[in-house]
Amino acid sequence: MFNFKQWLILLVCSLVIMNTEGLFVNITFVRNAVAKGAVCLDGSPPAYHLDRGSGTGINSWLIQLEGGGWCNNVTNCISRMHTRLGSSKKMVENLAFSAILSNKKQYNPDFYNWNRVKVRYCDGSSFTGDVQAVNPATNLHFRGARVWLAVMQELLAKGMINAENAVLSGCSAGGLASLMHCDSFRALLPMGTKVKCLSDAGFFLNTRDVSGVQYIKSYFEDVVTLHGSAKNLPRSCTSRLTPAMCFFPQYVARQIRTPLFILNAAYDSWQIKNILAPRAADPYGKWQSCQLDIKNCHPSQIKVMQG
Ligand SMILES: *[C@@H]1O[C@H](CO)[C@@H](O)[C@H](O)[C@H]1NC(C)=O
Ligand SMILES: *[C@@H]1O[C@H](CO)[C@@H](O)[C@H](O)[C@H]1NC(C)=O
Repeated sequence: MFNFKQWLILLVCSLVIMNTEGLFVNITFVRNAVAKGAVCLDGSPPAYHLDRGSGTGINSWLIQLEGGGWCNNVTNCISRMHTRLGSSKKMVENLAFSAILSNKKQYNPDFYNWNRVKVRYCDGSSFTGDVQAVNPATNLHFRGARVWLAVMQELLAKGMINAENAVLSGCSAGGLASLMHCDSFRALLPMGTKVKCLSDAGFFLNTRDVSGVQYIKSYFEDVVTLHGSAKNLPRSCTSRLTPAMCFFPQYVARQIRTPLFILNAAYDSWQIKNILAPRAADPYGKWQSCQLDIKNCHPSQIKVMQG
């Protein structure tokens, strides 16, 4: 006989299995985008996953832009082009739709019956790049902004043009993209569509690292230069600031005219690891314990973060 503890373990395990037994949505490749030069780093077609809405959600659309950092030089863009973040040839066919993409009312009460789309990220520039030339030696394509437009055009043709409600969301590098493309997304839709944007974990701080170097700023300068991003950033920002500064929501967000929600901003371990204490600035890993638990941070570290 099972004792109570064993029974409990069994119950918990079956609940976990039930929870993970979610919805898997097939990938769609935007093959006609290749002719427009709207391609992943390796020249493969962009891709997305769409689960159609139903009932009261049939004319509402939730777009989620996938995240996954950036590539800021040829070396790490070449590494990336051999992964799912640089090539649709490496992407899985079916993606689990959970959380904000879930089709279960109890997990996702606001959007469960909307048309829900996950746009795959394979350009390394938060969907901002556009360089015509392709170096035959590397075969790298910097075309993130064209990917953005090609995928949106396909979704508009699939019914998004009739949207009553539309939300542009994204996480991390995709959260930044959802913010930077927020007004241009609004502009693609009819006047009558109610449009909002949600940037999740897409707020990156412009600050010096622990050694006093403007590490993240020079990193974004490299991204913008390599990918030719300048002309595809919000004009409300580039009219005032250098393009790299427009990768920082702290300078962009206030000028966005579409209602914008910012979630999980700034104060997290990613910012500590990559902005405040990148490897070059923290060779002995002094910041590691602070990254894992805020209680371990030195008051001076807290001060930098709060600054
Ligand atoms: C998803 O793709 C698989 C093959 O990869 C196919 O068997 C299945 O029918 C597809 N499902 C839908 C809903 O199109
Ligand atoms: C490319 O960028 C990475 C990350 O910023 C850096 O560590 C590396 O040294 C750079 N490589 C070259 C060749 O510039």
